[in-house]
Amino acid sequence: MNPFLINTYIAPEYFCDREQETKALISNITNQSNTIFFAQRRIGKTALIQHAFYHLKKKRNVECIYMDIYATQNLKEFINQLANSIYRVFPENKSIGKRFLDAIKLLRPIVSIDQITGTPELSLDINQTTQYEKTIPQLLHFLDNQNIQVTIAIDEFQQILAYPEKNMEALLRTSIQQLKNVNFIFCGSDQKMMHHIFNSAQRPFYASTKNINLMKIDRLLYAPFIKGHFENHKIKIPSDAIELILDLTDCHTYYTQRLCHELFSENKKTIDFSGVTQTIQRILTENESIYFQYRNLLTRAQWLLLKAIAHEEKVVQPYAQKFIQKYQLGTPANVKRSIEALVEKEMVFYQTSLENPYYEVYDKFLMRWIQYK
Ligand SMILES: Nc1ncnc2c1ncn2[C@@H]1O[C@H](COP(=O)(O)OP(=O)(O)O)[C@@H](O)[C@H]1O
Ligand SMILES: [Mg+2]
Repeated sequence: MNPFLINTYIAPEYFCDREQETKALISNITNQSNTIFFAQRRIGKTALIQHAFYHLKKKRNVECIYMDIYATQNLKEFINQLANSIYRVFPENKSIGKRFLDAIKLLRPIVSIDQITGTPELSLDINQTTQYEKTIPQLLHFLDNQNIQVTIAIDEFQQILAYPEKNMEALLRTSIQQLKNVNFIFCGSDQKMMHHIFNSAQRPFYASTKNINLMKIDRLLYAPFIKGHFENHKIKIPSDAIELILDLTDCHTYYTQRLCHELFSENKKTIDFSGVTQTIQRILTENESIYFQYRNLLTRAQWLLLKAIAHEEKVVQPYAQKFIQKYQLGTPANVKRSIEALVEKEMVFYQTSLENPYYEVYDKFLMRWIQYK
């Protein structure tokens, strides 16, 4: 098995570090506090939740419910997702599952078997808007009354900003305040959500939650993790090759995992510096058609700015004359407009959780591709 996972969580042995964050998350859950964390995509938010849940499930005294609302478009879909996620943890054959189906009988739950995965799926037949708003508290109160501790992780939480219903936070807040045995993890991608939270009149919703600041994994911990997994499979990798991997990916979790995953799958006995160079080139070539599509979707000014940021890697002052002149970007107003569009499209990430915030290209492989062109 390839030990460098790129889309699932399996077990702690494939998971690098995050000891502080895991401890904080588990402590919040066992102390019944709600947790919030928004961080850049592919840095390891979902994996962190799964890692914490892995440990909690072993203790057997907390039931962990996970829901990813990325694909939901409105309150109704949110409710269905919530009901289904609860149902998955307490299927019909457990006593809580039976009681759950009983409790929601009026919502006419329909259980069907997913054609692809073979798992049972639950959906509710609710059509009146007035019913929607009552359903969330109803589902949560049910859980609260089971004499067990429950934690619900809502992943990709920023998605609620796209719902036509604008009272989601108020709705959740009122329900949550009354719960004694259920707590929450709100997690999602940074850009839109952070902006929203700081401009929101409903900040009290977030003020009562504890924060986790999820940054890149420490290089000094990632390097031995990588070396260890290659060596477990009798693959030699000198430290200059590992340093190159971490340089190329800027230590961003997904890109590091992906590059190591590809290197591992090549079945070599030794991975040296030039081997890493060849593999990254292969990945970039494979992705090239996507990069051309990105270019076609951007205006010329946006593409030029993206290229400039890629070449600089980190840009602290995008409106400075020096930067604008070097890349011929026009006026500061032009740059401002383009940079806002690039951030909105999540092509550029504005790293604000540091003392000196800076802009960087979101996708580390795209950044390398631009640099090598
Ligand atoms: N601490 C870690 N150690 C090893 N791999 C990780 C770690 N955190 C995340 N990953 C891997 O990196 C990829 C991206 O992580 P993910 O949790 O999906 O990011 P996010 O939810 O922030 O978008 C996943 O394939 C995951 O398996
Ligand atoms: Mg995720």
